[in-house]
Amino acid sequence: MLKILRTRKALQAWRKRELKRTLGFVPTMGALHEGHLSLMRRSKKENALTLVSIFVNPTQFGPKEDFRKYPRREREDLKLLRSLKVDAVFLPKSIREIYPEGESGTRIVPPASLTEILEGQFRPGHFTGVATVVTKLLMLSRPTRSYFGKKDFQQLQVIEALANDLFLDVEIVPCETKRAPSGLALSSRNQYLDPEARTRAASLSAILK
Ligand code: PAF
Repeated sequence: MLKILRTRKALQAWRKRELKRTLGFVPTMGALHEGHLSLMRRSKKENALTLVSIFVNPTQFGPKEDFRKYPRREREDLKLLRSLKVDAVFLPKSIREIYPEGESGTRIVPPASLTEILEGQFRPGHFTGVATVVTKLLMLSRPTRSYFGKKDFQQLQVIEALANDLFLDVEIVPCETKRAPSGLALSSRNQYLDPEARTRAASLSAILK
């Protein structure tokens, strides 16, 4: 049965009870698609237990970005997790559950060499938000392995560096990108694309190939 954990305390108590078993952890922002599900299937193969988190993390969105309209589909997501027989989901009941200290808490700032290029150039603070929430989630869940898509290549580099540099006792497992038949990488944000934009987006993958 899928265990739904809404608080840090519930998550930590669950993990404490299960500390002897290997745990695979898949952090997500929800609106789950086949890309996420492939990470969960891999985690299930490689670990005794699989935990998923669903949290739309405000600190990784810029002031003009889509935090408010980011797709939230809790009911459908829970249905998918149950169908995959995931063991537990951490679904924080509020932002305070992850950021009890509000705006003024500790932040994890990844090295500039990884964040001042590519996407980071256009999204100041984004990777600090990602590194901070991923560190918090890893500290709370203490997984054996944690699974990340290669689709977010720069994010993966940041997370590998943070696990290394902070001596976190977790194996970061990079996973292959899942694509639509058109070649477009699956992403929760694809639903923003109208048919014309979707065709243009798919042509990027064809051009790169
Ligand atoms: O890739 C994502 O969905 C997010 O950046 C992550 C890793 C769940 C952190 O919020």
